[in-house]
Amino acid sequence: MIILSTIAELRKAVVNAKSSKQSIGLVPTMGYLHEGHLTLAKNAREENDVVVMSIFVNPTQFGPNEDFESYPRDLERDTKLAASVGVDYIFAPSVEEMYPHDGGIYIRAGRQAQTLCGASRPSHFDGVLQVVAKLFNLVQPDRAYFGQKDAQQVAIIQTMVRDYNFPVELRVVPVVREGDGLAKSSRNVYLSSIERMQAPVIQQALQIAKLELMDSGDVDQALAQATKIIEDNTAGKIDYLSILTYPDLKEVDENSDQILLAAAVYIGKTRLIDNLILSLKGERIHA
Ligand code: PAJ
Repeated sequence: MIILSTIAELRKAVVNAKSSKQSIGLVPTMGYLHEGHLTLAKNAREENDVVVMSIFVNPTQFGPNEDFESYPRDLERDTKLAASVGVDYIFAPSVEEMYPHDGGIYIRAGRQAQTLCGASRPSHFDGVLQVVAKLFNLVQPDRAYFGQKDAQQVAIIQTMVRDYNFPVELRVVPVVREGDGLAKSSRNVYLSSIERMQAPVIQQALQIAKLELMDSGDVDQALAQATKIIEDNTAGKIDYLSILTYPDLKEVDENSDQILLAAAVYIGKTRLIDNLILSLKGERIHA
């Protein structure tokens, strides 16, 4: 495995792969790898000749009071993990390498970014699109791998690919979880042992909401039950708990087909997100 830190080196590797007609799979990450990231990389390994993983804590997707500075980083450990699943190239640029110019052109996420994480993290998805568009242009992957863990991110990137005609196939990988149901996340390391014990309640609450929704079709009732479970069983503060259509992220109605149940909860200072996607073919629900 080769670690690349400059765009020039990356372009050389990409041109080499393209000239020998090798397919390229891209796995964008911010590092501090866990089984979720590695599952994306394993899928990429199976489906492509060359696997490029980017490791870049992208400053433009963090708000001024968020955890950009303290976001966990360990390139040495990441390198070993990435090699163990067959990644060919790690692209780990500096901030200056990625953003040498100021005040240039920005991409703005549309309506899908106004809800859920976008409502509490204004301009977060603009930053995500900025870095993902750059990575798509630099790596020119045949396929790019994203996790369903960030369901809204996937939906918005899908829209960018559609609206800006990026010639890439998006591959979406289901949420990888700990044994007790907590979604794997680089931010889980922030949790104290008591917080860690409470964190799986987020997923349990979403499961209860799903059962209620399938049972009664009542969105408000489903949300009320999930809220109560989180409030009764954690010291957490709910940022949002929502049921929306997927991938449009609009209010559900009786014709809704795919439905996203999504939560963001502050467990202590750590903001954790999780979701479930539900197919409601023919089932009646009411908001
Ligand atoms: P990061 O949080 O490092 O996640 C990188 C990729 O891993 C994302 O596609 C995310 O959805 C996926 N992932 C994280 N945890 C997962 C889990 N438990 N199961 C399955 N997939 C999981 O998401 C980002 O970085 C950034 O926004 C990025 C797209 C790299 C742009 O900077």
